Amino acid sequence: MDNFIPITEGQTKLLVPQNSLQEKVPPHFPAFFNPLAKLNRDLSIYIYNIFLNEYSNNKNNQITFADAFGGIGARGLRVAVEVPKVSKIYINDINELAITAAKESALLNNVNEKCIFSLNEVCKFLISRPTERNKRFTIVDLDPFGSPSPFIECVLRAVEDDGLISITATDTAVLSGIYQKVCLRKYFGLSINSIYSNEVATRLIISSTALIAARLGIYVFPIYAHSNRHYFRVYLKASISNSMANKVFDNLGYIKHCFNCGERNFSNIYSTDLCPICNSKFHVAGQLWTGKLFDKSIISNLIKNYFSGNFNNDKKNHHIKQIFDISIEELDDMPYYFSVDEIASKLKTSPKKLSQIIEKVICSGYRASRTIFRPTGLKTNASMSDLLCILKN
Ligand SMILES: C[S@@+](CC[C@H](N)C(=O)[O-])C[C@H]1O[C@@H](n2cnc3c(N)ncnc32)[C@H](O)[C@@H]1O
Ligand SMILES: [Zn+2]
Repeated sequence: MDNFIPITEGQTKLLVPQNSLQEKVPPHFPAFFNPLAKLNRDLSIYIYNIFLNEYSNNKNNQITFADAFGGIGARGLRVAVEVPKVSKIYINDINELAITAAKESALLNNVNEKCIFSLNEVCKFLISRPTERNKRFTIVDLDPFGSPSPFIECVLRAVEDDGLISITATDTAVLSGIYQKVCLRKYFGLSINSIYSNEVATRLIISSTALIAARLGIYVFPIYAHSNRHYFRVYLKASISNSMANKVFDNLGYIKHCFNCGERNFSNIYSTDLCPICNSKFHVAGQLWTGKLFDKSIISNLIKNYFSGNFNNDKKNHHIKQIFDISIEELDDMPYYFSVDEIASKLKTSPKKLSQIIEKVICSGYRASRTIFRPTGLKTNASMSDLLCILKN
């Protein structure tokens, strides 16, 4: 394996292309590996472990994991080493060199017996599973270059009843409102180029997946979702149920945003009325997922199981715990947020501390919380005009 070097990520040894550690944007050749996606993979290890705790209490199937766009096997091999309940890991990619590296790494970690490798087009790989639901994959991960949209139906057809799908999207310009026609075509909704467009993007991935799933008689429900500058990522439980799939529209809606005064609200019904504060035209985002984003009981179990006591005290784990802690308190039924700087610029003052703002807003009778989507983000059911009144003094 010329030009590949060994590294350790989490508890797993990985053979990675040397140039992926040297160049700012990880190259596609000889194979793709993004060292900056470590946090993304770290979070997924926690979520898969906690999801399978509950899953394996309810089902007695063999637990399988499919890394559909496996690359050099970073996520799949970490699952093989760090998620003990998974007994078979399928790692697929179209790049032969990537799969060769993944096989070598499996040997380095002594997990080659539970790994199955394939060199296949992603949808061919996914739909090659038996049609019986209990023989499909328990967890399927989809981590494409760019948009996951063309592959969603294949993933839904490959996952077991009550299994989990995890999906990454990196088409940030499309999902953040720069290319609206493309967004509508790929995600069945419009985005909005605003301070909270990363949350809108995440919600568009969920809504478009939920709509495709509903057509197949599958109901998907978010367990977790997060984003950073380069990607959006969602974890959805997929259950077979026509009656639940019929209810998909209960969780879909529209955000209306006034770029003149900063007012914003959301509703399940599409309307193009004017901003009640300044009479300007509202910009509309959606349809998108307006339901909750996190299964808080699973996430609080995760915190209890993996972050209690002195178990995980190093800096890196502290950061991950912080992310999960914020999600527990986050008002995830509000599909947008405000930012401390945005409020300060409206008030023509310097930005106040987020914790002080939250306290004041709650004391005024509204709900308020932090959000994992932005360190200076404020989730609240107060409107921009309410916020300005509350914080003026
Ligand atoms: C973003 S990378 C995956 C990274 C990997 N999940 C990780 O954590 O390191 C996308 C991968 O998809 C593979 N790929 C691209 N098109 C494909 C297709 N149609 N079928 C299967 N694999 C494909 C590429 O070779 C590349 O390794
Ligand atoms: Zn307005």
